[in-house]
Amino acid sequence: MERTFIMIKPDGVQRGLIGEIISRFEKKGLQLLAGKFLQLDEEAAKKHYEEHEGKSFYDPLLEFVTSGPVFAMVWAGDNVIALTRAIIGKTDAVTAAPGTIRSDYAVHTNFNLVHGSDSVENAEREIPIYFSEHQIVSYEHTIQRWI
Ligand code: PPS
Repeated sequence: MERTFIMIKPDGVQRGLIGEIISRFEKKGLQLLAGKFLQLDEEAAKKHYEEHEGKSFYDPLLEFVTSGPVFAMVWAGDNVIALTRAIIGKTDAVTAAPGTIRSDYAVHTNFNLVHGSDSVENAEREIPIYFSEHQIVSYEHTIQRWI
């Protein structure tokens, strides 16, 4: 099953939106495989956002994501990357579709609450920055396979 890396950024944590954001993914029928609270250091943040190095928003983005605790997660499901990005909404809160997390709760592009991997390659690159495989659960042997 496809996996993705989701991270509730410092603004989402500070605004008390962890439960709300997780709830949207859970209600959709996606599976939470791992989750942890952490303070991101500069090295990990640089690794995560390496493809954006040199862009105008790179330095403010690194400063922001390392400014306070984040809640990192691995989610799984068929088409989980496209589904979670649809639930999150476009980067810019102004053009994010109504009903998406960013439209409903964000005001500024640079405080847009939550990150979701944009491709299978990036998901599989980002997940090991935060989790080792033994920290990621499997539902393989659960009895009810309703998803
Ligand atoms: S790009 O160039 O289209 O790939 O960029 P985009 O996917 O829109 O954004 C890449 C990540 O940078 C964040 N971003 C910003 N952060 C702070 N300030 C500004 N102005 C800004 N613009 C973009 C954006 O939210 C993406 O981070 P994640 O964590 O993946 O959401």
